[in-house]
Amino acid sequence: MSLLTDQRIVSLEIANEFVGNKSPLNEIIDHFYNSKVANEIKNKRSETKYILSVFCRRLFELDNIINQLTDRNISPRNIMVRNCIRIALVELIDLKRPEYAVINTWVEIAKNKKRLMHFGKLINAVLRKFLKNNTVSNLTDAQKVPGWLWDSWLKTYGNDEAINIINASLIEPPLDISYVNQERLNLNFKKILPSSYRMHKSGKINEIAGYKEGDWWVQDAGATIPANIFGDIKNKSVLDLCSAPGGKAMQLMAMGANVTCIEISKARISVMKENFNRTNLNPEIICADILNWEPKEKYDFVLLDAPCSATGTIRKNPDLIHIKEKQDITKNISLQKILLDRAINFLNINGILIYCVCSLEYDEGEGQVETLLKNNETIEKVAIKAEDYPEYGKFVTSNGYIRTLPHLQIDGGIDGFFISKIYKKF
Ligand SMILES: C[S@@+](CC[C@H](N)C(=O)[O-])C[C@H]1O[C@@H](n2cnc3c(N)ncnc32)[C@H](O)[C@@H]1O
Repeated sequence: MSLLTDQRIVSLEIANEFVGNKSPLNEIIDHFYNSKVANEIKNKRSETKYILSVFCRRLFELDNIINQLTDRNISPRNIMVRNCIRIALVELIDLKRPEYAVINTWVEIAKNKKRLMHFGKLINAVLRKFLKNNTVSNLTDAQKVPGWLWDSWLKTYGNDEAINIINASLIEPPLDISYVNQERLNLNFKKILPSSYRMHKSGKINEIAGYKEGDWWVQDAGATIPANIFGDIKNKSVLDLCSAPGGKAMQLMAMGANVTCIEISKARISVMKENFNRTNLNPEIICADILNWEPKEKYDFVLLDAPCSATGTIRKNPDLIHIKEKQDITKNISLQKILLDRAINFLNINGILIYCVCSLEYDEGEGQVETLLKNNETIEKVAIKAEDYPEYGKFVTSNGYIRTLPHLQIDGGIDGFFISKIYKKF
């Protein structure tokens, strides 16, 4: 099989596979760039990623524009034709590429591709009509995400907050980092929260000063809060459950803790090990299923960053809008419940568990912990108070939890996290 040498065709093929299989976008991009893309265009990878991220972020709006421009909507069977037009629209609207060059190139691509051969005229007509009419999406904010997600956010946060969440979730996020070596931080990073720094225009991450030296790692500002809520853990043993790719473990170690990582996925452990090697941090790593693993001793500090729907990270992973379904939340809730029971079992009396998820869904966060507190008399909630954590004040809820929402951090937003602190009484 010959390798792909045209970046637009690479984007098109990846879009076809994404829409067809609903697998994570990063996995499909990795697969293409490892085995299907010719060396001479491998340097276009970040451009491809950008185009397809916008494609995912704006998919409902792009389709709304396309539907306004076609009398008879393009048949769902012709997904490849639709994807050509969607990508061309991203190029015209977001990348502001020269209009007729974009149209002509996509028409040429269609003429030369077997399954598109008869659709060159349609692609040409739709794109020219778009330019002539200056068509814009007429979707409401609520219609920019799937109905089930809107219903869930509306129920939990109310109309105004839900709209704020959507708008902040659909903006490309800045680069946030956490550091091992604060003195050596690049001056272009601005401190935004305790131990979290931000850069707006980053370029290639591995070319930023200090990355190769392992002085810092990429971590959303919201993801730094759970470890910081422990307080002083210097020289203390901390059990980090569900560790990979290791962001919170690195932070715990940078805070001076002795960390034991438990993670089920071998593939994710190897990514995590690369992170630890680069930052020169050395925790104990155990590849195990928490559901049947037993520690040799109990811990005073346990962090459980449970698998979840990750709807708080749509800013960075806009493919989630199209991959996740309502039923996934139900599955997550059952697993999180078992993991929470296990985590409590690993605690010493007087020990502290931090339970967090990067989800905006009530049932994976507040709902999960409220049910746990009702059913387990050995534990109690440590109410998180704004006065104890003034820098996180705006995220502290009236119920004593931390709930970051994507629009609550000025100057670039923040991932949505739920964070709770639980005390083991006996
Ligand atoms: C949200 S991610 C953790 C992110 C990580 N704490 C960090 O800060 O980089 C959840 C992780 O839990 C792991 N996991 C899921 N079920 C597990 C289980 N039963 N036992 C151990 N790890 C599990 C997944 O493989 C995944 O890597």
